[in-house]
Amino acid sequence: MDFRGRDLISIADLSKGAIYEVLEKAREMIPIARGEELDERLKGRVLATLFFEPSTRTRLSFESATHRLGGRVLSFGAPEVTSITKGETLADTVRMVEAYSDIIVLRHPQEGAARLAAEFSRKPVINAGDGAGQHPTQTLLDLFTIWDDKGVVEGVKVVLLGDLKYGRTVHSLAYALALLGAELTFVAPPTLQMPREIVDLVMDLGAEPGQVEDPAKAVKDADVLYATRIQKERFPDPQEYLKVAGSYRVDLALLRDGKKDLAVMHPLPRVNEIAPEVDRTPHALYFKQAFNGVPVRMALLSLILEA
Ligand code: NCD
Repeated sequence: MDFRGRDLISIADLSKGAIYEVLEKAREMIPIARGEELDERLKGRVLATLFFEPSTRTRLSFESATHRLGGRVLSFGAPEVTSITKGETLADTVRMVEAYSDIIVLRHPQEGAARLAAEFSRKPVINAGDGAGQHPTQTLLDLFTIWDDKGVVEGVKVVLLGDLKYGRTVHSLAYALALLGAELTFVAPPTLQMPREIVDLVMDLGAEPGQVEDPAKAVKDADVLYATRIQKERFPDPQEYLKVAGSYRVDLALLRDGKKDLAVMHPLPRVNEIAPEVDRTPHALYFKQAFNGVPVRMALLSLILEA
């Protein structure tokens, strides 16, 4: 696929072939991401990050990826210091920022914000999370992590555990895993189940996702256990959050029933979904997963921005 100048708003913007193109390129980027090789292919290019929601990994890994390829980054820190507080619209903000940069990475609490920004920007826009919508670059790094660890994605048995209703990472990831032929099982408290439209989408792609409530049952023959945080900030009613808070936890007792090479993943930040005792086991893949954000975002930026 010709990525040059393109937006990335939803993971469904990418075909299977295009996804593998990013993963292959990300593999080549690893020595540069680690700082073992120097590279300047984005010299003179400017990436703008517009983050209207908190972020640690996504913003920093985009910044690291740009710097490692010789480019520069513009960002405004906290949205409270911008003209947004004076009432400026997202559309106007985007029209300014496109004049100051070559590519815009946007995170916003509203679903559809990235799509809207892309309509107003002639420069490429990358969605770094729009409310409970999509988080396509997280999905690319999640796929890379599975592919790197298991050697393949097709046929891999993946359990998505946690807040499947509000979690944008699992919305994008479920779609991509179905597209790439992985086997899916959804495990969530009754009020946080995967939205119907995502279930329909993955079934249209030929997947037949299992749905169970008990993590112990799902873990037994899984290859990957992908845990997520309950998205407290998206609950309309704090009482509803309290009812489900702490309702699941990945600990050594749960993993004892799983395969020896079961990989535990998490987009992070974790609150208490994964016990710290898991960190020291070979199951813990989440810190490597967070590192993989750098080579994967390098691959994407280089595909979109290189002449
Ligand atoms: C996720 C997000 O922002 O959607 N974080 C991330 O990008 N790694 C997950 C979360 O906040 O729970």
